[in-house]
Amino acid sequence: MIIYYAIKYRRHPARQVGEVIEGSAKLEAVWIIVPFIIAMIMFVWGASVYFAMYRQPKEGVEIFGVAKQWMWKFQHPDGLREFNGLHVPIDRNIQLTMASEDVIHDFFVPAFRVKADIVPGRYTKIWFRATKPGQYHLFCAEYCGTQHSGMVGWVTVMQPAAYQAWLSGGEPGGAQATGGGAAQPAGSSGAAKGSLASAGEKLFTQLACNTCHPPEGAGIGPSLQGLFGAKVDLEDGKTVTADDAYLRESILNPAAKVVAGFPPVMPTFKGQLSEEQLFELVAYIKSLGSKGK
Ligand code: CUA
Repeated sequence: MIIYYAIKYRRHPARQVGEVIEGSAKLEAVWIIVPFIIAMIMFVWGASVYFAMYRQPKEGVEIFGVAKQWMWKFQHPDGLREFNGLHVPIDRNIQLTMASEDVIHDFFVPAFRVKADIVPGRYTKIWFRATKPGQYHLFCAEYCGTQHSGMVGWVTVMQPAAYQAWLSGGEPGGAQATGGGAAQPAGSSGAAKGSLASAGEKLFTQLACNTCHPPEGAGIGPSLQGLFGAKVDLEDGKTVTADDAYLRESILNPAAKVVAGFPPVMPTFKGQLSEEQLFELVAYIKSLGSKGK
């Protein structure tokens, strides 16, 4: 074809000048305005879906997760832990707070259309609502080292009664929830060692946090009663909301946001606490009550 056209349409004096085409304002307006409207429709539609996906619902089941090379660990609020498996009730908003112990991982459940990077040093919030019982693949979708491809697990969606039975230590496999379907091993589940908050309370005493943050107040550090969700005035005049990310930062890097009226004397706990222990401490502080609720 190239050779044929090269010969057929070779340079020739008779057809040296191309035909002049005059512009058409009407045509130009059409091909600017029509694609503009289509693009705007897709943008507004896409943005509304995006906000619906990424805005955390008010009510839900809170579950905490830690990603590390190369496994998934999940903690239910009552203290039940599981590895490479996640059991959730059907038709409930599942609110995951995820942290990474080492490098960037990515929580990906294709069936639920959820995918989010788990970046070390911060909490990643993910939520989903499963509408069909069964077992669904969980993948790590960020290359995180040699065993990355093996960093997989199963999310088991259960009927409420089966979920309650599982939570109370009944059936770890969750086979009854799948209606006799594929009973793939869903990872091992650890025994409950008390609730997350009570584990945090123990840790709080062990680390002697209570000497500076006594429950009745009037300590070296501010009281933590009713702190969660409250507005905190800082030394530099700014105000922050005491959410889990703020609490985590204040434990690891106390100098970052010093509360107004208190000396910056708190030592850092960086390197001394695992992400799981941080979840426990945050859960304990949360259990001390929240203002305005
Ligand atoms: Cu974790 Cu890939």
